[in-house]
Amino acid sequence: MSTSKEHIFVVGASGDIGSGIVRGLVKKDEILTGCLTIVVGTYSSVEVYEKAIEGHTRLFLLAVGNLKRPTEMSEIKETFGKIAYEKGVRQIVDLSSWTVRSLGRQGIIGYMHTTSEEKLWKLADERPDERSLVVLRPGVFMSNQLMSDVNSVKHLNKLVSCGPPSSTFAWIDTKDISDCSVVVLTEPVEKHDRCVYEMGGEFLTQEQRAAIFSKVLGRSITYEQQPVETLYKMFIGFGMPHSLAYDIVSFPIEPVSGHVTPQLSILINRPLRTLEEWLRENVKEFQ
Ligand SMILES: NC(=O)c1ccc[n+]([C@@H]2O[C@H](COP(=O)([O-])OP(=O)(O)OC[C@H]3O[C@@H](n4cnc5c(N)ncnc54)[C@H](OP(=O)(O)O)[C@@H]3O)[C@@H](O)[C@H]2O)c1
Repeated sequence: MSTSKEHIFVVGASGDIGSGIVRGLVKKDEILTGCLTIVVGTYSSVEVYEKAIEGHTRLFLLAVGNLKRPTEMSEIKETFGKIAYEKGVRQIVDLSSWTVRSLGRQGIIGYMHTTSEEKLWKLADERPDERSLVVLRPGVFMSNQLMSDVNSVKHLNKLVSCGPPSSTFAWIDTKDISDCSVVVLTEPVEKHDRCVYEMGGEFLTQEQRAAIFSKVLGRSITYEQQPVETLYKMFIGFGMPHSLAYDIVSFPIEPVSGHVTPQLSILINRPLRTLEEWLRENVKEFQ
């Protein structure tokens, strides 16, 4: 889509974050809504992308992981990033993950995002004066709870995981990710050049999370710690590959779970959203 000066390309515009970015860009006064174009493609239709990216100045880049080919995410980002820079894109805003600083290549999610970042930094640093890169590293999405917790809350009044009740995660609302992306994509390229923005709205223990559910739903929701093997077998039973199931059961056990970043309010001009706010908006899903 285009503003009077900039042409912004959003990969994954049908997703949660991408659609929030498009809505945010359209809301901005200077956006000409008639200049919004939708391109249908996949990560493998490089020719479609190559043609569509022509004339754009900024790129929001998101790739979903393919656990059968852990190297695929970094390959996609390298290919899409290289084409973008060669076609004249000046700024890439990459959607990465909190795991990069906290875990690096440890775990499959950390591996995919760390190797993706490495390839993008290499591309940007080949021509530092022309190529700007901004990396967003969000914590755990609050929206994950729509997959992981709906059934146990609805039917058992429980949140279930394998960490102790005191285990924590840094949670983030995807609205904050979209809003932050819009700011970076519309402010001067130089301002955010080579910035890495970690994103965590609230650091909550499992017990605190259960208390928020109880408050919002108006009934008692408790946290239950299950043996790690039980949870792992359940994930495998759902068809999840070993590497992801192992990663997911490791997160609550290890004392690494992201960071809270209230300083992001400097960018988005409001406080980051809380889990309670998110839950109030999604309460029907858990009733
Ligand atoms: N979940 C978390 O807690 C968390 C935390 C940190 C980072 N992240 C990262 O955040 C990113 C976004 O994840 P998400 O699942 O939440 O994204 P999402 O908002 O659901 O969006 C995914 C987008 O990618 C598109 N897509 C999927 N497969 C595609 C393909 N083969 N070719 C082209 N487009 C494809 C989807 O298109 P369709 O609508 O057509 O399918 C959709 O537009 C991932 O890189 C993830 O690792 C997640």
